[in-house]
Amino acid sequence: MTLVRPDLVNLPAYVPGRKPADVLDAAGHPLPPARLASNEVPYGPLPGVPEAIAEAAADAHRYPDAGCMALRERLAGLHGLDISQVATGCGSVALAEHLVRATALTGDEVVFSWRSFEAYPIVVGSHSATPVRVPNTPSYAHDLAAMRAAVTDRTRLVFVCNPNNPTGTALHRDELVDFVDSLPSGVLVVIDEAYREFVTDADVPDGLELLPGREHVVVLRTLSKAWGMAGLRVGWLAGTPEVTEAIRKVITTFSVSSLAQAAALAALDQTAEMRRRCDLVIAERPRVLEGVRKLGFDAPDTQANFVWLPSGEATPAIVATCDRHGVIVRGFGTEGIRVTIGTPEENDRFLAALADAV
Ligand SMILES: Cc1ncc(COP(=O)(O)O)c(C=O)c1O
Repeated sequence: MTLVRPDLVNLPAYVPGRKPADVLDAAGHPLPPARLASNEVPYGPLPGVPEAIAEAAADAHRYPDAGCMALRERLAGLHGLDISQVATGCGSVALAEHLVRATALTGDEVVFSWRSFEAYPIVVGSHSATPVRVPNTPSYAHDLAAMRAAVTDRTRLVFVCNPNNPTGTALHRDELVDFVDSLPSGVLVVIDEAYREFVTDADVPDGLELLPGREHVVVLRTLSKAWGMAGLRVGWLAGTPEVTEAIRKVITTFSVSSLAQAAALAALDQTAEMRRRCDLVIAERPRVLEGVRKLGFDAPDTQANFVWLPSGEATPAIVATCDRHGVIVRGFGTEGIRVTIGTPEENDRFLAALADAV
């Protein structure tokens, strides 16, 4: 007899970013770690965010606005949506979980590409739905034809991660529209755009373009990455009022704290600075990609703020060497390594560590 659900034995636990080792520079001074494992933007919170948090702290004894009205209103206004089309949550990972909870009963199927965001199998399995992993193409992209073929009468939800975490590959407008329009109307398709702000390829659509006339589409966004709020936990989604209302029913009440709501409103005032920082990251992307390729890795083009190294069996050894250099990257078993684009100095350190490893 176990006190908890026996099927949880088969559920992987989310792997958090590792704590960095202590590394000294040539003069013997401690070298701050290069934290390149969690796809954060390295330039600190956006201006005004710490002040907004400090101000909101004075009311920390009060419950937050459970409806996140001001924040939803702002997000709706920024994206030409109605507030009824917007739902917020404790990070977009929580919204992914709520979407499973709102659509799938025990044994229902949720289809996604694999490898993709490592939380998908966890949020699906934790609700006793069945994860259906569809292998990526040999070039690490979603195989949309195979994903379509994997949809059955039991499928309730499909996650499309665009650009894909951890491979950085991105789907183009035509193929994504064809895929979405080929799905049965009773299957909700979630376009997870956690990395939308780093997309530069004009053929990669903004998922919000797909919403009009398509009730079975939901777009998932986060303030964790481009907006510099990973520690504050705010995600949002856009969909029909039917879907957003269902989310509000299944969500844990008061999921977005008053500090997080205030911070998000302050961050959203800083679009120009957000863009400037993302552009710094985007400017470094080709250099890192080229550096990795020169060292022998067949890394795919990326539209996100990270690069995928298909490092196979060498993965654990490379991760360990990077660790010794104080460079924290994310290894996935013996499959590959995801490296976040950091500051130019951090990227130099990563490339030096990788050169040492090979
Ligand atoms: C594809 C994707 N979706 C969602 C998330 C969740 O982000 P958050 O919960 O911080 O909003 C992440 C985070 O890494 C991600 O990579």
